[in-house]
Amino acid sequence: MTPASVPTLSDGVVTLRAHREEDVDAVLEQSLDPASVRWTRVPVPYSRDDAKRFVREVMPGGWAADQEWGFAVEAVDPAGSARFAGTVSLRDAGAGRAEIAYGAHPWARGTGHVERALRLLLAWGFRSPAEGGRGLETVVWWAEEGNWASRKIAWKVGFSCDGTVRRWLDERDGLVDGWVGTLGRDDLRQPRHPWLEAPRIHGDGVALRLHRDEDVPRVVEACRDERSAYWLGALPAPYTEDHARQHLLNRTDQMARALGVYWIIADPGTDELLGTVSLMNIGSHAGAEVGYWAHPDARGRGVMSEAVRLAVRHAFVDVEDGGLGLDKVRLVSAVDNTASIRVAEVNGFREVGVERAGTICRDGRHDVVIFDLLAEDLRLS
Ligand SMILES: CC(C)(COP(=O)(O)OP(=O)(O)OC[C@H]1O[C@@H](n2cnc3c(N)ncnc32)[C@H](O)[C@@H]1OP(=O)(O)O)[C@@H](O)C(=O)NCCC(=O)NCCS
Repeated sequence: MTPASVPTLSDGVVTLRAHREEDVDAVLEQSLDPASVRWTRVPVPYSRDDAKRFVREVMPGGWAADQEWGFAVEAVDPAGSARFAGTVSLRDAGAGRAEIAYGAHPWARGTGHVERALRLLLAWGFRSPAEGGRGLETVVWWAEEGNWASRKIAWKVGFSCDGTVRRWLDERDGLVDGWVGTLGRDDLRQPRHPWLEAPRIHGDGVALRLHRDEDVPRVVEACRDERSAYWLGALPAPYTEDHARQHLLNRTDQMARALGVYWIIADPGTDELLGTVSLMNIGSHAGAEVGYWAHPDARGRGVMSEAVRLAVRHAFVDVEDGGLGLDKVRLVSAVDNTASIRVAEVNGFREVGVERAGTICRDGRHDVVIFDLLAEDLRLS
């Protein structure tokens, strides 16, 4: 197939078209960009010759062999010029299946252009051959674990994220863990569930915020601490930086699945981590469960009581007002964890019972006391 027979698809804002000679410089810029290097298999080092080969041979070759249907994305940049914005493609996997791939030129990130491009690409791919499409039934999406920008855009256009396949993706440095999801022809091209955010919230002497990579050393310190290790008996020991990184990734994953909201409790002045507070198991009939731990140097000064107050308020505030609109929050503590029980009491939680052997501490099972707080309790008080 010659480039001339590559269809041109447009939604009035973004156009998908065959790659052209004049895309070479932009392809080069995109391929040298750190995010492309980090998350795709672009050759390193990447030269202008590589970009020429991509535009002249790789993309046209995919069409000629009917194996990869790659389009250049074009959109109008902020200065008003039509400009190369990236590449999107579908790779034929046979039997009505294809794999989606995409990458944006740095100027086009965060503009919504890639989402538009993917919608055009998917509509074309799923359309029947009689209507000029490829008649696909299922499109699969793969991304290296941790590529949140890729996952979020896949989520926006309706892909599932079905889990992590360990050591499956063949990346530059070897096999890595990959996320995988699919989109079917008849699936709605919209998110399957909300993607929860951890908004920045300011309180009395603490701020709640999203985690970041720089929190890893403080997480390690806190989770190596003897008291944390005692009460949180399931923590790995010795607790390493890899454990902390995986923990932070899992927290975003829970938010991306609308199962929880996970904050870092930070010093409002320095933004340094003081602890964590989370609303977990959102959507269960039992109501969200609040969970927390404090860094050893932040204990004993009311940090957690205030953080839990802020988290609970976020849980109960209506969705229209930026909250989660929940009506119940639970809190579970080992019966002998006095500091934790104090946090529950200070926040007006009501004790509703004791579950035998409900948690595992370092020295074995302990009974737990279960508290709950209803939205109406706060309205009444
Ligand atoms: C993947 C890529 C094409 C997405 O394009 P984009 O224009 O950045 O996408 P969008 O801005 O529409 O969406 C990205 C979303 O991810 C979010 N995101 C980025 N990093 C994130 C992180 N670490 N945690 C959570 N969300 C994150 C962004 O905030 C944005 O969300 P928003 O729209 O709610 O603000 C682009 O980032 C890119 O070219 N990356 C390098 C190549 C690549 O990774 N390709 C995919 C390989 S599978």
